[in-house]
Amino acid sequence: MTKQHVIIDCDPGIDDALALIYALKHPNLEVVAITIVCGNVPSQLGFENCALILELVNRLDIPIYIGAETPLKRPFISAQDTHGMDGLGETFLKQNCNKRPEIKKAYDYLADYFKQKQDTAILSLGPLTNIALALEKNKNLGENCSRFISMGGNFKSNGNCSPVAEYNYWCDPHAANFVFKHLKRCVEMVGLDVTRKIVLSPNHLEYLKKFPSELTAFIEKITRFYFDFHWKYEHLLGCVINDPLALAYLIDPNICHGFNSYTDIVTDGIALGQSIVDAQHFYQKDSNSKILTEVDTLRFWQDFLTTILDQPKEVISQDILQLNLGGFYEN
Ligand code: BDR
Ligand code: CA
Repeated sequence: MTKQHVIIDCDPGIDDALALIYALKHPNLEVVAITIVCGNVPSQLGFENCALILELVNRLDIPIYIGAETPLKRPFISAQDTHGMDGLGETFLKQNCNKRPEIKKAYDYLADYFKQKQDTAILSLGPLTNIALALEKNKNLGENCSRFISMGGNFKSNGNCSPVAEYNYWCDPHAANFVFKHLKRCVEMVGLDVTRKIVLSPNHLEYLKKFPSELTAFIEKITRFYFDFHWKYEHLLGCVINDPLALAYLIDPNICHGFNSYTDIVTDGIALGQSIVDAQHFYQKDSNSKILTEVDTLRFWQDFLTTILDQPKEVISQDILQLNLGGFYEN
């Protein structure tokens, strides 16, 4: 089987960290490079967290490029309240390897890469600043990537930064607006409507502990803060892990279902960062996005756990039925 090539643009971040581990261990994926954007944490910290993860999974060969340090127009507001001051649940772990970032800026790398290559998908797990800057430099970026998947936005589910806006689009609404308008490729939007169904529960953590390793210990450590945050603010026992679902959907497009629509992102006012999904075709505009609204959670946990635990699929399929699959963040 040929591996799917992907460049991951991210802002690690607890759930980004889980998505990176999942991607780097997945047998069907070839991670070409990782690009870092400011979001959950400032870019330099995002780079350090990414290097720590590469070291953990023994993939220091993968290049990391640092990109934007601030959103396009708005002041930068991190999500360190959600992910901890270090972005990894205040574990304050440090890389031992002294990995350095590549010299080129992430957006220049992306712009140049997609001048030649056409077989690589872009998986965006943070604000869309790097993507917008790369698209400004290379107008064919959208046509030349094989797929463009963005974790961000929301359709019927409420926001997580305001009543109506999700963090990645709210953090840099101008970048999100620019990408949806000018990408010339369908933005596959893995928003809160589907990611809120992916709740890592205490049962999942208990299950991970049955496979003791440095990796499962790391996951347990970094998610503790995220658990506390969700309990404090949302009375949810567990944590919503958004970013790994976007990766699962890249690997297996049947994991989520939705519909095509024209989508616009609000850049000012009370609804700043909201993704306005024209499901009823009021604006009479061509569709620029696919909005995911349904997810097969069992299928997600199956592939996620099989991959990160290096276990045969059959082992996980049997055990998974014992787990409380969570996923009932209903709104
Ligand atoms: C998104 O915002 C970040 O905090 C997470 O990493 C995820 O990408 C969810 O709104
Ligand atoms: Ca993220």
